[in-house]
Amino acid sequence: MIRLQPNGTLWTDTDGNPIHAHGGHMLVHDGYYYWYGEDRRDNIYVSVYRSENLVDWEFRRHVLTTDSPCEGYRVRTDLSLFREADGKKEKVNIERPKVLYNAKTKKFVMWAHYENGQNYLDARACIATCDTPDGDFVYHGSFNPYGNMSRDCTLFIDNENDAYFISASRDNADLAVYRLTEDYMNVDRQVHTLFQGEFREAPALFYRRNNGKYYLLSSWCTGWAPNQGTCATAHKLNGRWSLNHPFGDKTTFDSQPAFVLPYVKENGETIFLYFGDRWGGNGDQYFTSSYIVLPIRFDEFDHAYINWCDVCEI
Ligand code: GAL
Repeated sequence: MIRLQPNGTLWTDTDGNPIHAHGGHMLVHDGYYYWYGEDRRDNIYVSVYRSENLVDWEFRRHVLTTDSPCEGYRVRTDLSLFREADGKKEKVNIERPKVLYNAKTKKFVMWAHYENGQNYLDARACIATCDTPDGDFVYHGSFNPYGNMSRDCTLFIDNENDAYFISASRDNADLAVYRLTEDYMNVDRQVHTLFQGEFREAPALFYRRNNGKYYLLSSWCTGWAPNQGTCATAHKLNGRWSLNHPFGDKTTFDSQPAFVLPYVKENGETIFLYFGDRWGGNGDQYFTSSYIVLPIRFDEFDHAYINWCDVCEI
């Protein structure tokens, strides 16, 4: 039995410092959970922490900063990782970073949401790679997949090596689902455009083997303010999706989806953990934002739901 850190608090690392991994994602690699997320301090964009037990988190590195190396690749991208203003480096926005390991290229590939730091009008995806999960990532630039707007996003790996990128498109009206190329460095095909005109964002996807269904959590678009989360299901990513069904309470327990972690318990049972951001307020979203982690349960109709617990035991 594991007692997670308390919900609605800014979890701390093994040095007692707050964990800055907002809008994040977890990668399981060589026995460790790697937790990547937004870190808005100083010149930092993305930080990574790791843990063997989901409780003790060791800070590993600021993997993407304004000083990260930049390198183009075959896709035409915009490589700017900061703006020059009055002779100073001003940060752009890199949000909701997600990382997958590509077994063919042996690269850790990050996809995130890029904005220019002044407004949210560029609406681009951006990519970075590294040879290790917690080294200095090389930035490869931002672009609009097939010319589409691309905001809140997630990555998902299906059947061991097929990867998908899902992002809010058309000014957040729809969620585009893209299968990635075999190196995970570009979109290969837009396989679906979900929830036409429903304005869903903050996508988080998981697959349940026992009923062969994909579950996609999302929020409505209300900026930093929380709203009613929803969940839709499908047997195929490019197939027919169910209608969105409420998930959590009217404010998703005051949180917005970041990602879902499939977690194998000691008894071999796989459970799914909902990770949400409880964004802070008063223009101080990042320093006072905290985390909500709740085990996802399923009712007799196989609808996903969560119950509140102050301190969850899994
Ligand atoms: C939210 C989004 C966040 C961030 C914020 C900015 O809707 O989920 O990731 O982009 O808007 O207002």
